[in-house]
Amino acid sequence: MTIKEMFTYCSNQLSFGDCGNFEAQCIFEDILKIKKEKIHCDDSIASCEDVQIIENIIKRRKMGEPLQYILGKWDFYDLTFLVGKGVLIPRPETEFLVDIALDYLKQKDGAIIYDLCAGTGCIGLTIAHHLPQVTVYLLEKEDAAFNYLKKNAEYLKLNNVQLLKDDLFTIDLSNLPLADIIISNPPYIPTFEISDLQKEVLSEPISALDGGDDGLNFYRCLASRWVSKVRTDGIMAFECGDGQSQDIVNIFDGIYKEKNITFDFNNIDRIVTFRI
Ligand SMILES: C[S@@+](CC[C@H](N)C(=O)[O-])C[C@H]1O[C@@H](n2cnc3c(N)ncnc32)[C@H](O)[C@@H]1O
Repeated sequence: MTIKEMFTYCSNQLSFGDCGNFEAQCIFEDILKIKKEKIHCDDSIASCEDVQIIENIIKRRKMGEPLQYILGKWDFYDLTFLVGKGVLIPRPETEFLVDIALDYLKQKDGAIIYDLCAGTGCIGLTIAHHLPQVTVYLLEKEDAAFNYLKKNAEYLKLNNVQLLKDDLFTIDLSNLPLADIIISNPPYIPTFEISDLQKEVLSEPISALDGGDDGLNFYRCLASRWVSKVRTDGIMAFECGDGQSQDIVNIFDGIYKEKNITFDFNNIDRIVTFRI
């Protein structure tokens, strides 16, 4: 089999997903190191080893393992993050949180930022990378996710970050500094909806998805415990699920001075921002 035939085979085998061609391209580029412009005209014979690698990946994908875990990395904003079992894969809609934070922080040297429920660290580490003059505290409770957070902070060579392995609900806040901005993409899926999620999503840790009975447990905690850690006129910005923004506004009733809701590319109310 030639490389280009193997590409067509791989892309057909992966066509059970929405984007077999795209996935095949990522695999050929990242794993076999063949540039996408060259794949379709490569008549060289694929080595047995490469065929074996591709067969193995197809098997893992058919069993529902996300492509991102197989590749071991995924792009977010303008950076690449290490990912794997036990950590949530960064999503494009989460990039809105980074834009909101960078915009708010652009005039503020020495600002303090919290990224709560940090996972890979994609939000907070991206901010730290773009603004070397700020300090970002990233909080994550789960062992596997925290290991990815540590690896990503090292991989991106960031020294303006503080990694906290602790629980949003119980961490002692008394020794933490006041923040200019608190951002979070917490687990927000209502428990009863978890079993209906796609197989790929269910390969990701439930602890990154389950937001309790109505999906809003983490926002209640952010309102009751974490508002006291924000400076006057500082902001809190959270990602949320489809239709949750008004509930979150209600939870923060009487706490904020201004609010804003950002809609994503699918017109879903995705980010709620409060000025405190
Ligand atoms: C939806 S994921 C978001 C990960 C990352 N911020 C992102 O946007 O890709 C939520 C994260 O919260 C973490 N988490 C769950 N419960 C937590 C808790 N009580 N305290 C701190 N982190 C928690 C999960 O392990 C998971 O990494």
